[in-house]
Amino acid sequence: MQKMEKEKRTVLEVKGIEKNFGTTKALRDVSLSIREGEIRGLIGENGSGKSTVTSIIAGMQKADSGNMTYEGEKWEPRSMIDALDHGIGMIVQESGTVPGISVAENIFLADTDKFRTGPFMNRKRMTEEAQSILNGIGAENIHAEMLTGALDIQSRKLVEIARVMRRDPKILVVDETTTALSPRGRDIIYNIMKKMRDEGKSVFFISHDMEEIMNECDALTVLRDGEIIRTFEKEEFDEEEIKKSMIGRELEHDYYRTDDDGSFDDEVVLEAKNVTVHSSEPLYDLSIQLHKGEILGVGGLSQCGMHTLGKVLFGAKKVHKGEALIHGEPVKNEADAMRKNVGYVSKDRDTESLVLQAPIGDNISSGGIDRFAKGGFFVSPKAEKDYVDEQIKGLEVKCFGRKQYVSTLSGGNKQKVVFGKWIGRGSDILILDCPTRGIDIGVKQAMYRLMIKMKKEGKAILIISEEMSELLGMADRIAVLKDGRLEKMLSREEHPTEADIIQYMI
Ligand SMILES: Nc1ncnc2c1ncn2[C@@H]1O[C@H](COP(=O)(O)OP(=O)(O)O)[C@@H](O)[C@H]1O
Ligand SMILES: [Mg+2]
Repeated sequence: MQKMEKEKRTVLEVKGIEKNFGTTKALRDVSLSIREGEIRGLIGENGSGKSTVTSIIAGMQKADSGNMTYEGEKWEPRSMIDALDHGIGMIVQESGTVPGISVAENIFLADTDKFRTGPFMNRKRMTEEAQSILNGIGAENIHAEMLTGALDIQSRKLVEIARVMRRDPKILVVDETTTALSPRGRDIIYNIMKKMRDEGKSVFFISHDMEEIMNECDALTVLRDGEIIRTFEKEEFDEEEIKKSMIGRELEHDYYRTDDDGSFDDEVVLEAKNVTVHSSEPLYDLSIQLHKGEILGVGGLSQCGMHTLGKVLFGAKKVHKGEALIHGEPVKNEADAMRKNVGYVSKDRDTESLVLQAPIGDNISSGGIDRFAKGGFFVSPKAEKDYVDEQIKGLEVKCFGRKQYVSTLSGGNKQKVVFGKWIGRGSDILILDCPTRGIDIGVKQAMYRLMIKMKKEGKAILIISEEMSELLGMADRIAVLKDGRLEKMLSREEHPTEADIIQYMI
């Protein structure tokens, strides 16, 4: 079987591609090929060039030099539409559905004319066809006649997938799509990929999730700083080796905390007291306390209430019963929480935590503006500039300077800017909602180190996470939530395992 794989025909070949953005070398002499019936993983730290190389293949942007061959012929797609017309489709990292129109219209987007006869639009047929495409990919619970804007992120992502799959591509690029999806949504993607492989088609699959990528891919190419480092065939997969080639050095051993000392101060700094919230992710009579010098983990299934809890404690969500308290005082709103030195890193960092159309510098210093204010109102430009440069350096933000717009940074680097912002403010209490979601190990490691440092300085951190290993690795205590209630509190000294958490969350 393995031998046969080797003989499979190459369908696309990329040779010596270079791509620069200003002074950033996004791709250097990248050569890569993919076979028929192959699922090829692409992995590498944020900013290593994964999206750039695949978007060139899929016609979204053009290379500065180098060339490509597809099905034995020169490949120079003029646009994404042109690429899709020729059988290469891409599900992009940033979302691309139009909220104000129906699901069916999104699926047929530029192609709705085929349902038109003269002035008459056959909506019924369009809706039926869209529904059968949705059903075909396993998304039958999305209704084609619905308004797209009414769907959640996961469903909108599935609509994008349906739009591409409608064209039955020969090569599909999936760029960090699974990060936004639940296990069920992920299964839909995996099934599509497997089906394509069985039909002799090819997939480029970009993901940060090492386990997922090792399970789903036939081969894995590692990129680092715009260069191809190595391609691993399935039989060569080795997690440590892959990680090593991603970061270019041995992983430090103490990735998580190594101590089993779960102690902290008695002083309560943040508290939810009999909190009830009626919302799509409700809480019922929930009480929880975060102490000085404590890292408190919060885990559970996706609808367990943990994200609501984070918002409530930051004053970003109204409480229907009970109270949210910072240092014993009720929190009024977000501004009030920030005044009390509480920082919050939201799950949805693009829309909530960062001003994307502004330079990195403004984002980092906006969090800490009071620090530069002399006599309460004067901002010292030099102090501010020095501070920002120090943060960029300390957090190893990959950029060409503090003037670069946040919108052009890769996900992991955006996340570092969010951290920089709150640390800049001198936050005593940090609420982190899935801070390492979709983030590569290099950045994760830096964040974990910062969390440990903050704990040692007597600060308090509430970390909400979907990753059990992260909770077990970092928290002094783990609160397991289920259906909006506190199901179990586990403490570090008891050496809980993943099985312990799972037992209480389901
Ligand atoms: N439109 C752009 N303008 C400026 N720089 C960009 C742009 N797109 C990507 N880059 C830069 O190119 C490099 C590679 O980015 P990207 O391909 O998005 O990485 P990855 O997908 O591996 O995270 C990064 O340094 C990124 O900041
Ligand atoms: Mg990317």
